[in-house]
Amino acid sequence: MDYYNEFINYTSKFNYPECKFKVEHSKRVMDFAKSIAKSLNYSDEDEKLVSKASLLHDIGRFEQFNKYHTFIDNKSEYHGDIGVKVLINNDLISKFTSNPYEKKVILRVCKYHGTMDKLTDSKEDEIVKIVRDSDKIDILNSALNDNIKLDIADDDISENAIKAFKEKHLLSLGSKKTKADRFIVWVCFVFDFNFKYTFNYLKKTKLIDKLILKYINKTNNINTKKVLKEMGKEVNKYINEKI
Ligand SMILES: [Fe+2]
Repeated sequence: MDYYNEFINYTSKFNYPECKFKVEHSKRVMDFAKSIAKSLNYSDEDEKLVSKASLLHDIGRFEQFNKYHTFIDNKSEYHGDIGVKVLINNDLISKFTSNPYEKKVILRVCKYHGTMDKLTDSKEDEIVKIVRDSDKIDILNSALNDNIKLDIADDDISENAIKAFKEKHLLSLGSKKTKADRFIVWVCFVFDFNFKYTFNYLKKTKLIDKLILKYINKTNNINTKKVLKEMGKEVNKYINEKI
């Protein structure tokens, strides 16, 4: 069986609607990751490795849901760590590759795609960065398409979240102070993107603009509307600088 069918075969054992969404998410992340790899002129072999690693990045989600009935890492276990265990247990990873270097890259992608750890300039970490970009793009698209719930709140954005935005870095889910901060976690994704391909995609699709507008139109908090409008302008400036 090729790697794609192996993935479908493994995930088909988890018969929850929530898990079906994760299968679709993984496929979309793979498609975006392949496009980044192409934009970087990767060889066919490296592009295939990117495909495998991106398709498998959330492999821990299935066991996570099966065991804990939640995708919330803080209430269960970090899904990247579960993924590494799942691939190593029963040597599942060998169904996807027999090459030790490829195994190392796939495990690294699983472990670090969802963390805030600083990555190196190595080729392995470049692939982790490709998956981080692709994963975040699909989360933002899913929030825009209502595949992930965009929780619109009427409270303020906290000073802490505004500070993270001004300092241009990610806001961790654990450090959000208000309900509106949940949205700022997503807005701050822009500061963690790595590739020109991704910034061009953001510019072309106006993805973050559309998300911000959606939130502004639905929240009743005047202050939050005002802060988000300013953030939107800054986000566009930042994207243009990166292209
Ligand atoms: Fe993901």
